[in-house]
Formats: sequence, C-alpha cells, structure tokens
Amino acid sequence: MMENKQYIDVLNKIGKILEDADDLLNKSKDLNELDIRFKVFAGKKGQLTEILRKIHSYAEEEKRIIGSKSNEIKKKIEEIYKNRRNELADIKQKKDINTCRVDLTIPGNYIEKPHKHPITAVLEDVVDFFSYMGFEVVSGPEIETAHYNFDALNIPADHPARDMWDTFYLLNGLIPRTHTSSVQARIMEEKSPPFRVIAPGRCYRYEAVDATHLFMFNQMEGLFVDKHVRLTDLKGILEEAVRYLLGAKKIRFRPAFYPFVEPGLDLDIRCIFCGGKGCSVCKDTGWIEVIPCGMVHPNVFKYAGIDPSEYRGFAFGMGFDRIVMLKYNINDLRLLYQGNLDVLNQF
Ligand code: DAH
Repeated sequence: MMENKQYIDVLNKIGKILEDADDLLNKSKDLNELDIRFKVFAGKKGQLTEILRKIHSYAEEEKRIIGSKSNEIKKKIEEIYKNRRNELADIKQKKDINTCRVDLTIPGNYIEKPHKHPITAVLEDVVDFFSYMGFEVVSGPEIETAHYNFDALNIPADHPARDMWDTFYLLNGLIPRTHTSSVQARIMEEKSPPFRVIAPGRCYRYEAVDATHLFMFNQMEGLFVDKHVRLTDLKGILEEAVRYLLGAKKIRFRPAFYPFVEPGLDLDIRCIFCGGKGCSVCKDTGWIEVIPCGMVHPNVFKYAGIDPSEYRGFAFGMGFDRIVMLKYNINDLRLLYQGNLDVLNQF
C-alpha cells in the first residue's frame, strides 16, 4: 500500500512538473531566464532527472510507466521551450530594429579631398602635352656612369664645360646624374630613329641649398630625332609647351652654350607676374628663363652611332621645380620637398 502511494505521488509529481514548466517557461521574459528555467525542469540536474535517478526503488511495471511518462513529459517541455525561445527571439529582433534606427541628424565624418603633390600635377600636365605631340615617356638610371652623364654628351673628361655641373662623385666612380641629358645619350644608342621621347626624373648637384637651389631636383629631358627636324620645329613645339603649361603669352629665344647642342638656346617667357615691367621674380629683367634647348650636336650623334649627315634632332631640358614655382607662385623650392601638410594642403 505504501509503495503504491509513493508510485502515485511520483506520477502526480511528473504531471505537476509539466504544469509548472508550461506556466514558467511561457512567462520567461528573456532568453536567459528561459534557459535557466528549462534546466530546472528538464536539465541534466533538473527535476525530471531526479525522479529517474530514484526509479530503481519501484516495481518493474511501475518503472516502465514512470520511465515512459517522464520521457513523454520531457519531450513536451522541450517543445514548450522551443516555441517560447522562437517567440522571444522574434521579440528581441523587433526591439533591435526599433532601437537601431539611423540618426540622420548626426554630422558625417569630414573626408579631406585628396589632391596631387604640385610636382606630380605639373608632371602629369607636361606628359599630357608632350604625349599629344607624339612624344613617348622613357627613363634612365639615377646613378650614372661618367660616360652617359658627360662623355657621350660631348663633354670629355678634361673639358672645362664639366664645371657647369657641380657633380657628386661616388667612391665607386659612378655619379648621381647631374641632369636628365644622360637619358638622351642612352636612348640614342637604344632606339633607331626616328623617335620622340621625354625623360622626367630626379637629378643631383653639389649645391649649397637655398630658396632657389637644391642638391636634388626634378628635370625633364626631351629629344626629337628624325631626318628633317629643324630649329623651327623646336621653336614651334616649345613655344606651344610654355603657352599650355604656364599661360605664357610672349616668348624669346636667346643664344646659349651647352656642349651637346649646336646652336644652343634658352627659351625665356615674358614675366607672368609683372607682365614685363620688372619684379623680384624676374629680377627686374622682365623675362624668366624656362627651357634650355638646342639642335643635337653632331658629335653626340656620332657617339651613339647615328649618322649626323642623315639625321637631325632637337633637345631640351626643363627644370621641373622651376615650372612648379612659376605655376603656383612659390618663392622657396625647399617647400616642395619637406612634406609639410600645412604647405601642401594649400595647392
Ligand atoms: N642638361 C642641361 C642642364 O642640366 C639642360 C639642357 C640644355 C638640356 C640644353 C638639353 C639641352 O637637352 O639641349 O643644365
């Protein structure tokens, strides 16, 4: 009789577990609370497991019924748990959407407009112009042999003209090129005429640094070789170049000496700051020198193995930094190379 009562109690208890679980799980306010409650009823150490742990004290038939009843209830509790879990997840998602609304009144982050370094901007302009005129961009090494920097350009070792370039000499006998004219000498050997090339790049000179002199600067060499190239071609193309690049209205050519050209010239533009009246930029002359140039010297052709009686050419070397200074009205070259954002952001 006693055993029988215990057995009935346990069956009632199982029924009560289901009732309580149904009530409490459905009342859980969030996923955390739901999980904790589920464990109390159907977890590894929960109330149902507790009953099954003591199942050995019952008769065979009772064991079978308690066992199957417990399993049945466990499945039902799991079902209730799953449903409530989905409900709570739904509620949470809706809440998240409502609380995460985009606030259109928050000011955006300021993104600074990127811009090119003035030297790059001018370089791109120059390349645009000369490409349009049929020139191809080429390059050469910055560390040169004396041959390409001087000898092949008609400046032999003991010639006083070498003094025109204040040269750094490396211990191994090579030199950081003093001008991009070295590329001129290389290209004439490499290519067979006709050709038109420009070669922008860095050059180095043993200079005391001041507002208008740097030990490293940018230059661009130009070379046009063909059978019938004339001085008038040089004049036409370079006049157009300074019009395009600097808005120069009036220009002049002056005779000048460079060992690798004959005749040699300097192209001046009417001062774009004072219009020719005289100012500090043009040093009161009314003119600004911008492009040294000339007709390729026959000796330079001979060094490169090109027959000067068959081919002619013109060459020029533009000081890039000078063009940048004129274009942006900068009075100190050093400003271009210091990477100072206060300065660069003004361009
Ligand atoms: N290489 C010369 C210099 O750095 C500039 C120059 C002058 C280049 C006349 C030329 C030229 O191609 O024809 O001073």
